[in-house]
Amino acid sequence: MSFEPKILGFLCNWCSYAGADLAGVSRFQYPTNIRVIRIMCSGRVDPKFIFKALQIGIDGLIVMGCHLGDCHYIEGNYEAEKKFNMVKRFLSFINLDNRVRLEWVSASEGKRFTEVVKDFTNQIKELGPSPLSGDNPDKILLEKLIAIEMAAGSDRIRALVGRQRKITEEENVYGEKVLLENFNNILNSAIKDEFERHQILLSLEKDSKSVKDLAIELEIDPSVILEHMLLLKNRGQVDFGEIIGITPMFIRM
Ligand code: FES
Repeated sequence: MSFEPKILGFLCNWCSYAGADLAGVSRFQYPTNIRVIRIMCSGRVDPKFIFKALQIGIDGLIVMGCHLGDCHYIEGNYEAEKKFNMVKRFLSFINLDNRVRLEWVSASEGKRFTEVVKDFTNQIKELGPSPLSGDNPDKILLEKLIAIEMAAGSDRIRALVGRQRKITEEENVYGEKVLLENFNNILNSAIKDEFERHQILLSLEKDSKSVKDLAIELEIDPSVILEHMLLLKNRGQVDFGEIIGITPMFIRM
């Protein structure tokens, strides 16, 4: 039996949803795999929506909004783009980044809407079913995705993504602007750190563990784990538990 992916689409009311409507009244044909949720603006898509949809086994997810400069709420799609790029960077750690896409489709682009949906559906068909779909979802992957959801919602990541344009496009009090390339390096390293830290926190929710246990379980260098543990202890998120032999065990606070 051929694989028919489940695809979720978040379409902005003012452009892409109207574009889908135009495709319908123009009788353009497109795959029926997509299920549409109408939103007022692409900027309304909280990264949580994407992570939750993937967690329950959606094979592909597409967000569509007005072209840049045409957003009904002026800058909503710029916000959507920044959040989406952050989501893709997180998902690239677990090879799910090719299952999500962001596209700009205007109200007059009924034809383009069908082409985008066809192309994305074919892409997902080639990838095959999501490893998180069906009766036997990949539990390790699911746990990593939950850690990603927590990490993406952390204050540090939200602050960086939310202030990206201010930091890179406006001068600070010293008259300096942060180059986009430098900002991206900072954001990428924050994304990696927060992903690793939230995997640690999630793992410690089950039982206490040593640095070595965590390094083996998460396949992360012990020296990196140790750095994270010291920071998490300072944040009050972990603490020392019992000492077994000479090895301190960490607990989740
Ligand atoms: S209203 Fe369409 S993207 Fe903002």
